[in-house]
Amino acid sequence: MMRELEVARQAAKVGGGILAGYFRQGIEMRTKQDCDFVSDADVESERAIIDVIRSAFPDHAILGEEGQANDAAEVDTNAESLWVIDPLDGTTNFAHDIPHFAVSIGFYRHGLPVLGVIFNPVRDDWFHAVRGEGAYANGSRVHVAEHASLSESLVGVGFYYDRGTMMEATLASIRDLFQQKIHGIRRFGTASLDLCQVGCGQFGAFFEYELSPWDFAAGRLFVEEAGGRVTNCRGAALPLAKSSVLASNEKLHDAVLEIVNGNLPALDWD
Ligand code: IPD
Ligand code: CA
Ligand code: CA
Repeated sequence: MMRELEVARQAAKVGGGILAGYFRQGIEMRTKQDCDFVSDADVESERAIIDVIRSAFPDHAILGEEGQANDAAEVDTNAESLWVIDPLDGTTNFAHDIPHFAVSIGFYRHGLPVLGVIFNPVRDDWFHAVRGEGAYANGSRVHVAEHASLSESLVGVGFYYDRGTMMEATLASIRDLFQQKIHGIRRFGTASLDLCQVGCGQFGAFFEYELSPWDFAAGRLFVEEAGGRVTNCRGAALPLAKSSVLASNEKLHDAVLEIVNGNLPALDWD
């Protein structure tokens, strides 16, 4: 695994360097759908990450958000060796000059997460996890928070681009969480880093009703290796596909699950 970790770090460094070069330079953002942006920074970062991975492991499958390696629909998520890349997670922050975004790279074997690297190039913050070997922030081992009560928790949340049903459901869950006297809600806008904040013990829990595999491929392992738990918002195992996500320090999982599951409407893809 050392070789894959080295390559993931190298790829994240190259991709992150490209993002940092474009940051606050007035780059043009294009919309993929309402409120969903992409720019040359995302595309160039992904290209560079793919090049690093391909030159080390030409036979591995790659699933990237911008689809430059393989057509996402054609990628076998149970492949023997699969890289899952978000070349710029937190695009909306990036577009608004907020230095809270990351490159996220997960590595899976036969559908099982074995390695995750997340890099915020502005803060030079590195997060990584290797299955069975723990989670590390800037080289130091980290663990989820200890507390078992929502009234001691800060909870992270994400909103997908939908401004209808899912937004209403998210707001309902936030209200229910506040009624449990949580310390507060945070919406920082970068799912991979939100998951790192659970792993580092800053958030007791994080949930979002719709995420893509590249948003959580690396961060879910980071939470698990830090001693936490990650499921979808129904409490089922997380697929490597579009999914709701609930991550917690484990002790809070059932309490948050009851709320987020209760407010999540029936979905045809869930
Ligand atoms: C988004 C971010 C955001 C989350 C969205 C994601 P992107 O990814 O992770 O925090 O709320 O659902 O799509 O578009 O910036 O790569
Ligand atoms: Ca993302
Ligand atoms: Ca992205």
